Amino acid sequence: MPVKILMVCLGNICRSPLAEGILQSKLPSELFLVDSAGTGGWHAGEQPDKRSIVTAKNRGLDISKQRARQFKKSDFDSFDYIYVMDRSNYQNVIALAPNELAKEKVSIILNESFPTQNLEVPDPYYGEPDGFESVFDLLDNVCNVIAEKLKSKHQ
Ligand code: 4NP
Repeated sequence: MPVKILMVCLGNICRSPLAEGILQSKLPSELFLVDSAGTGGWHAGEQPDKRSIVTAKNRGLDISKQRARQFKKSDFDSFDYIYVMDRSNYQNVIALAPNELAKEKVSIILNESFPTQNLEVPDPYYGEPDGFESVFDLLDNVCNVIAEKLKSKHQ
């Protein structure tokens, strides 16, 4: 049974698809499964935003085959770790948690690098194209920390 990790943002088209692709690239696929979802369902079934696809491609990752889906309550049963991009995502996910064990699975992703600071991965959707580059860098750095932690704990 692989260890299962879910990346969550609002739309599941900009930040969490990048987080999914980046963490996947740092972990052996026989042991770890990485997925992503959005707290909102407006983009369900869509490819990641073109700007995320291009940013990932420029860094050697193909995220074009991902499809957006909405976070659902049963994800608390399916996943071992749930990483959210910002405080609003955290509130929305925690509101669906059935119990304390489920809540403990949820972390604001940048707290893995900067504990207890509740720093946010900014939403690049309405911003300049270089916002996607800085989001990629933030996620790449924190996914190094997460991958090392998960590998030392689970393999
Ligand atoms: P994401 O960005 O949460 O990083 O996928 C967004 C994408 C779409 C919308 C908001 C944020 N939207 O409102 O459609």
